[in-house]
Amino acid sequence: MSTTILAIAGSTRRDSFNQKVLDVAASGASALGARVLDVRLADYPMPIYDAESEGTSGVPENALRIQDMLAESDAILIASPEYNGGYTPILKNTLDWCSRATRAGTPGLTLFANKPVAVVSASPGPLGGAKAQIGIKIVLERLGLILIPQSFSLGLAASAFNEQGTLKDKDVEKLLRAVGESLVGLTSKLHTATV
Ligand SMILES: Cc1cc2nc3c(=O)[nH]c(=O)nc-3n(C[C@H](O)[C@H](O)[C@H](O)COP(=O)(O)O)c2cc1C
Repeated sequence: MSTTILAIAGSTRRDSFNQKVLDVAASGASALGARVLDVRLADYPMPIYDAESEGTSGVPENALRIQDMLAESDAILIASPEYNGGYTPILKNTLDWCSRATRAGTPGLTLFANKPVAVVSASPGPLGGAKAQIGIKIVLERLGLILIPQSFSLGLAASAFNEQGTLKDKDVEKLLRAVGESLVGLTSKLHTATV
């Protein structure tokens, strides 16, 4: 059975370093036959979560669309930028809305439960978003996801890519692809164990 992975970067910036590292990690998953559902958050604008707006207008259609893709997915791959030592508001907001009721009225949290998740990050700073990873990983585990041990933080990202947008250092590329490969590997093992 082929594995479906939802890939999502917490940045809408056109030249996002995190989108780039996400794409490299996702290519490792695709190479093993996984189907990658590429969610670009710029295509899914939604208001900041607040309970009053949820009460009057319900879950926004764009969050429901991401929930639909989560329902199709066996695992999740996340690239998390770092803002002031934390992960980005757009990532948290998306996760918060997706954790709410689905179109069918079932809890959104069931869309995350027991699915493997991997995290990568990139930043122009030396630590590559490592602090943001700590915060987002706590949230992902709270959502019921199974965090895999493999991850990667790309520091000094502003000088890591060539003009074509590919990584200059092939060893770094290998390490990022390995995160996607590991995610597929664990997901397949879990499926084999449960069928
Ligand atoms: C509000 C703000 C705070 C930031 N704080 C950090 C930080 O704490 N650590 C860091 O490494 N980079 C920080 N940065 C720089 C981001 O890593 C950089 O903008 C990066 O390009 C964002 O990811 P992206 O390229 O995927 O959009 C910050 C940027 C912004 C806008």
